[in-house]
Amino acid sequence: MGVLPVTTWNRGGVVGVRRGMTTIGLIGSGNIGGTVAKLAVAAGYDVVLSNSRGPETLQGLVDELGPKARAATSAEAAAAGEIVVVTVPLKAYGDVPVAPLAGKVVIDTNNYYPERDGQIAALDNDESTTGELLQRHLPESKVVKGFNNIWFQHLAELARPSGSAERTALPIAGDDAAAKLVVTEFLDKIGYDAVDVGPLAENWRTQRDTPVYVAPYGPYGGAGAPASADVVRQAVAEAKR
Ligand SMILES: NC(=O)c1ccc[n+]([C@@H]2O[C@H](COP(=O)([O-])OP(=O)(O)OC[C@H]3O[C@@H](n4cnc5c(N)ncnc54)[C@H](OP(=O)(O)O)[C@@H]3O)[C@@H](O)[C@H]2O)c1
Repeated sequence: MGVLPVTTWNRGGVVGVRRGMTTIGLIGSGNIGGTVAKLAVAAGYDVVLSNSRGPETLQGLVDELGPKARAATSAEAAAAGEIVVVTVPLKAYGDVPVAPLAGKVVIDTNNYYPERDGQIAALDNDESTTGELLQRHLPESKVVKGFNNIWFQHLAELARPSGSAERTALPIAGDDAAAKLVVTEFLDKIGYDAVDVGPLAENWRTQRDTPVYVAPYGPYGGAGAPASADVVRQAVAEAKR
């Protein structure tokens, strides 16, 4: 499992993680899931990882993350997390367990790559966004789109404390204002500002091939570069459907 080391500014720091909001569930623990888990552990959260092949296949990542991490089934990770990150190939979103996520804040990182996911008519016709698809699958959950527009290695690299001149921002979208505040606080704790781009219907503004997708954070495959909230806002505003 090739999850990059995260920047060390908050390693071991439990600064500000609220009691009662300390466990992050991961449905999918690959490039993005593993990186979010690593940032979360560094910020003092507990994480419960899951994937499609079973908890035993995640032992290497659990060992890497240390005592604040454990692996479980997807349903168990969903039940354990106060915030749950769904970070699977989009074609697998229908497998995400529904009942244990009822009432919870769910962060959706998924992007649509037809060559991987197959054609999804509602996305091809712009009748839906990826975030709306997951929200429809999880009607009792509060889905917030996030982490979908940054390459995982840049995500690992660019975390900085609040107030840093090099602080990077990530766009979020969602239909529930309180859930977006929860996600904003989570992002803040793990090293990022949040830029609210509106409801899930607007999350097309951050999808693949839009100006805010990958490029503001540095070249894909190259070193990361900080992108401020103003830079992210401008790129989001320039998106065309
Ligand atoms: N890579 C990036 O930099 C990046 C950036 C932003 C957004 N994204 C998007 O975020 C999502 C995840 O990307 P990734 O690069 O992290 O993918 P990845 O490295 O391929 O990891 C995918 C994870 O999802 C798990 N998974 C697959 N099917 C599942 C199922 N039915 N139930 C539970 N878990 C399942 C996989 O488990 P198994 O290995 O056991 O199958 C694996 O842990 C994708 O939609 C991607 O487009 C990726």
